[in-house]
Order: sequence, then structure tokens, then C-alpha cells
Amino acid sequence: MFFHYILNLFLVIELMKHGAKLTSVHALSMQYYAIQCPLAEMFVKNTVNQALQNDPTLAAGLLRMHFHDCFVEGCDGSVLIDSTKNNTAEKDSPANLSLRGYEVIDKAKELIENQCPGVVSCADIVAMAARDAVFWAGGPVYDIPMGRKDGRRSRIEDTINLPAPILNATSLIKMFSKHGFTVQDLVALSGGHTLGVARCSSFKNRLSNFDATHNVDPSMNSRMATILIKQCQNGDDVTVALDQTKNSFDNAYFNAVQSSAGLLTSDQTLYMNPRTRGWIDAYAMNQARFFLDFQSAMVKMGLIDVKEGNDGEIRLDCRVVN
Ligand code: HEM
Repeated sequence: MFFHYILNLFLVIELMKHGAKLTSVHALSMQYYAIQCPLAEMFVKNTVNQALQNDPTLAAGLLRMHFHDCFVEGCDGSVLIDSTKNNTAEKDSPANLSLRGYEVIDKAKELIENQCPGVVSCADIVAMAARDAVFWAGGPVYDIPMGRKDGRRSRIEDTINLPAPILNATSLIKMFSKHGFTVQDLVALSGGHTLGVARCSSFKNRLSNFDATHNVDPSMNSRMATILIKQCQNGDDVTVALDQTKNSFDNAYFNAVQSSAGLLTSDQTLYMNPRTRGWIDAYAMNQARFFLDFQSAMVKMGLIDVKEGNDGEIRLDCRVVN
């Protein structure tokens, strides 16, 4: 109990330092499910661990899912909702078609509903699953406050709020600052690309007809460009690792960006802008620093536009509004 109190205090201080809205902190708490569903976190952890044992690549999917949930309508599980006859949901947007791990969330929800029906939100399960996936892949462990409610709105047009991979650092800084993120947070969060893959369609803009004077993006390592051009001849859906250790949460992503081997425009641009470049160097040199900053940025991300009280609900099936 005392430990949790200290953690809570530490979190609030960290968030104040980073300028987060304290109203969100008050509503959520580390002990939110302590009485009504004390084993909720354990159910999620076990489900995630089991899923990742079978398919380690899902760690990336679960981390990205939380990001895509939070950036569209806040962290409210809206990304999980299925489209209906009358509504095309977020998950059917081109930006979300390669999201993975929905069945892991369903499984955790099912176990939790059997134990404590109608108590634990899908939004919290997504946040816990991302956290557990990062740890499973070798990343830092961190505690997150719970109590997010599930949203009732999930519309394809809202996914316009997701950053496109062709954005440059200035646009990314602007987009992330709308959610209260600093430049440092942006770079730390981009370190999420230490896990997983991207399809050729997400970076082919860098491989041909880049501009009037270049066929290939000159900020891409030319040996890498040659290899990618060959790989992508097999189609837009061919996948390429975002760094050299795609299933390990480490700082290899920052080393890649330093050596012009960032895969997406949005990765490599962070080394071209003087405001972001220093953080790439810092995290490439010091993994512990990356882990620390990633943790606090993730806690902050998990608080974006959180729904409370009657603003939201506890969905019974994560794919369907009650
Ligand atoms: C900074 C702006 C960002 C942009 C423009 C961006 C864009 C992308 C794109 C285009 C992909 C590949 C999708 C595909 O081709 O199928 C991707 C993958 C991924 N992103 Fe991001 N992303 C950003 C930030 C983040 C953040 C903040 C996180 C998490 C903290 C994250 C986690 C991931 C992960 C883990 C993958 C791999 C997914 C997989 O293997 O299934 N991204 N991202």
C-alpha cells in the first residue's frame, strides 16, 4: 500500500514536470480495481505472456494498438470496436488495417468478465497489455493508473488524427504537442519502433521518385535503399523490421536512425531536425535514459482524453458498444 502511495506521488510529480493535465490524474488510480477485480492485472499479464510465447511479434502489435487507441478520441478502447452496417469504425481505416493483437484483448476480457463482470474497461486492458508487452520484450516495467471508461464512438474519419509516416519532425512536434507531449516525449515514444515491422507501402515514398533531383531519399543509407528496393518489388505488403532487433525492446532503433537506417520518413526526420536530433543521440548512447523517458511518456500517453463517469461505459464485449 505504502509502495503504491509513493509510486502515485512520484507519478504525479513526473506528470507535473511534463505538463500533463492533473484533472486526468485525479480520476484514475493505481488501486482502481483493488476491491472489485483484484486479479485483473494478473489476468491480462498471463494472457499477454501466453500469446507472446506463441507469437513474439505480437508485442509490437499490442504497443501500437494502445498508441492508436489514445491518439484517436483518447484512450477509450474505441480502436477495438467493429464496424457495423451503419458505421465504419476506426479499425477499418487504412492507418489501422495492419493493427494486430485484437484476439489477445478479447481473451483477457473474457477471463476478466468471468471473474468480475462489468467492472474492467477495454481501454484499461489495452493499456495494461501494451505495458506488459513492452516488459515481455525486454523493456522497462512501469505502473499505470486505471479507471479509463470505454468510449461509444469509433469512426473511420477520426483516424485523421494519427500521424502519417511521411511527416517531418516539425509536423510531428506540432501534432504531439497538441496532446501535451514535449519534443523529448516525441522522440522517446518514437522509440516504440524498436519493436515490429512496417509494410513497403509505409516507406515506398522514400525509394523512388523522391524529388526532382533524387530517386531515393538522400537521408536513407544507400545500401539499405538498394536492399529495400529489391524487397519491395514483391509488393506493398512485404514487411521490413523497423530496427535490427524487432522483437526486443532496446535502443537499437536510435542507433539505426543515427546511421541513416531509420525506416520511415517520420523516423529518419528525427535526426535531421536540431530539436529532436540530440535526443536520438542521447537514447542511442544511453538505453537506461531511453527506458526512463519512455516509461513516463507512456504513462502520459495513457492519460490522453480519458473518459470518466458517464462519459463512457464498461463495454461487455470490447468489439461492440453496449
Ligand atoms: C511518431 C509518429 C509515428 C508514426 C508516423 C508512426 C507510423 C507507423 C507506421 C507507418 C508503422 C507501420 C505500419 C505498417 O506499415 O503496417 C508503424 C508501426 C509501428 N508503430 Fe508507429 N508511428 C508513430 C509513433 C509510434 C508510437 C508513439 C508508438 C508506440 C509507443 C508506435 C508503435 C509502433 C509499433 C510497435 C509498430 C510495429 C507494429 C507491428 O509490427 O505490427 N508508433 N508506425
